[in-house]
Amino acid sequence: MASELIFRGHEESLPTGAPGHTPKPHHKPLAARPLRYLLAEQRLLFALLGMALAAAVFLNAPSASGTAATSSSTNPGAGSAATTVAAGLARRQDAHAAVGGERERRAARVPLGVRLRVLRVLVTGGAGFVGSHLVDRLLERGDSVIVVDNFFTGRKENLAHHDPATAALEVIRHDVVEPALLEVDRIYHLACPASPVHYKHNPVKTAKTSVVGTLNMLGLAKRVGARFLLTSTSEVYGDPLQHPQVETYWGNVNPIGVRSCYDEGKRTAETLAMDYHRAANLEVRIARIFNTYEPRMCIDDGRVVSNFVAQALRKEPLTVYGDGKQTRSFQYVSDLVEGLMKLMEGEHVGPFNLGNPGEFTMLELARVVQETIDRGARIEFRPNTADDPHKRKPDIARAKQLLGWEPKVPLREGLPLMVQDFRARIFGDGQQAAQPQ
Ligand SMILES: NC(=O)c1ccc[n+]([C@@H]2O[C@H](COP(=O)([O-])OP(=O)(O)OC[C@H]3O[C@@H](n4cnc5c(N)ncnc54)[C@H](O)[C@@H]3O)[C@@H](O)[C@H]2O)c1
Repeated sequence: MASELIFRGHEESLPTGAPGHTPKPHHKPLAARPLRYLLAEQRLLFALLGMALAAAVFLNAPSASGTAATSSSTNPGAGSAATTVAAGLARRQDAHAAVGGERERRAARVPLGVRLRVLRVLVTGGAGFVGSHLVDRLLERGDSVIVVDNFFTGRKENLAHHDPATAALEVIRHDVVEPALLEVDRIYHLACPASPVHYKHNPVKTAKTSVVGTLNMLGLAKRVGARFLLTSTSEVYGDPLQHPQVETYWGNVNPIGVRSCYDEGKRTAETLAMDYHRAANLEVRIARIFNTYEPRMCIDDGRVVSNFVAQALRKEPLTVYGDGKQTRSFQYVSDLVEGLMKLMEGEHVGPFNLGNPGEFTMLELARVVQETIDRGARIEFRPNTADDPHKRKPDIARAKQLLGWEPKVPLREGLPLMVQDFRARIFGDGQQAAQPQ
């Protein structure tokens, strides 16, 4: 019995028609069965139709927002939490798309769940005068921008013209002396008081901002793999013994003077940037900025251009420190911003001098201000401040050659643009101000 259960081979040996032989049904080959199943009851047709429908939906899906918006409008009663959130997001994205220009139009073709790669840029000190102009340009280019600023000298009004509901801009009140963790691709590190009045106000904090603040931002850049640009200064040349100043010149800086918190702070910041570059392979860029001017400058920040313009408008004497023969060069902010962006996106570490090589004595500058605002403005001489550099003029050959950059706006064109803004800020409606001549 047991052997019968296991062994059936004896059946094969029985002759056909012999008693006990039941003929087996004739089976078709196994492979033919699924095919038969598929062809039966028009299953193949339905499968093909389904595939065609899915392909059409995928290819024509307008975007994450579009899809979500459609689902909420065509199924008003569906009302699931997911649909509501998706619809809310879709409305925000649609509003953004309306003003976001080309970038958003391109994003509209991206299927649900897939994000278009936009450059995420952190600008520390982005509420300051250079920073806010840089932010304007980055947003114009289509980047997503985060500003980190403690508003020591920066002003929210400098960014107020960007609609918070639609601009790809986020402003965070934060002091760079404390670490921050943000996911970004580029860091423009500008946070630092820049005018003598401001950086001498709390010199220890200035040094801390330059050194600890830069260390924190370099650490962040390393952690998230971002490219880092330091806005250094022509002050690293101190009272220069070489004229004009080339990037290879190491400078002549007093390490214990009243300006040292700024000058030495920036020199250390450059050192840290280069050490991160060498030791941690961090992509860094260093700009040495020469005197820059523009409309959003703080009115009474003690920088010579803003000083003269504000004094001439208020009908006060123009204060010239020393004999007025010390020289400076003045670049308009749009030229600087252009240079910073070229440097960031270029391949060279630097340092690069970014400044206008047009050189003016303080007395010449005072005369340009008189010609622009008030020919009758008086000049008043005062004793010079400590460690005031005698000469300053950038050699920009390196920036010209490697970045293809040079400034375009001469002082006599840039100054009137600044006067208009200062007049409005000092006098409100500008009625009491001296008129340009
Ligand atoms: N404007 C120039 O002529 C010039 C020249 C050389 C270098 N620079 C450099 O360019 C950068 C911008 O200068 P600016 O002229 O726009 O000056 P600014 O004072 O208008 O801007 C500096 C910004 O940094 C912010 N800030 C200061 N300390 C901070 C901190 N601890 N944490 C966070 N934010 C802080 C300020 O609130 C401000 O918004 C500075 O690094 C400066 O050293 C400027």
